[in-house]
Amino acid sequence: MIKKVIPFVHNKLKEIITTDDYVVDGTCGNGYDTLFLARLARKVYAFDINEQAIENTQERMNRNRIYNVELINDSHSNLDNYVEEDIKAAVFNLGFLPGSDERYVTKGESTIKAIKIVQEKLVQGGLICLVVYTGKFGGEEESSELLDYVATLDYDKYNVIKYCYYNKEKAPYVIIIEKQI
Ligand SMILES: C[S@@+](CC[C@H](N)C(=O)[O-])C[C@H]1O[C@@H](n2cnc3c(N)ncnc32)[C@H](O)[C@@H]1O
Repeated sequence: MIKKVIPFVHNKLKEIITTDDYVVDGTCGNGYDTLFLARLARKVYAFDINEQAIENTQERMNRNRIYNVELINDSHSNLDNYVEEDIKAAVFNLGFLPGSDERYVTKGESTIKAIKIVQEKLVQGGLICLVVYTGKFGGEEESSELLDYVATLDYDKYNVIKYCYYNKEKAPYVIIIEKQI
């Protein structure tokens, strides 16, 4: 069966992440992706600029007795201030926390800055997964900036794929960047 976007991303991550790996959740939100990553990896660095998101994710970790997550209330574009290790995978589930406002929406410029930092830290065979929404608060602009950026990545170093519903306008879609081995 064709997978929806989040299960598609999770499936890809499950194929490569081991308990030796350091990973990043660039936008922890309500902590669903963080929890998924924490159950696979050695450690998750989870970022969000919205304090409410950090609280929600902390609660989810507590409820599930998860202790290998470092929650960081800062932009993912400052990732290199916090993450020293090489990274096996990073997830950026973009947009905003349901119920929050425009202040806390992801933006192309900072998302691309974060992607570039992760590219430097990514191990060969590692993945950067982006879930992109075009519906609200400048999502269309971020989407087009991201597509322009990933189209420039060297074909001999990175595989870039886009996974989308071709017959549904405004549906979220996935970009995966794989650093070649
Ligand atoms: C769609 S939600 C993430 C959903 C989340 N991964 C989950 O499993 O619940 C997007 C999140 O990105 C956060 N965000 C927006 N700009 C950000 C930035 N520059 N750095 C880190 N987080 C950011 C928002 O506050 C919001 O919580």
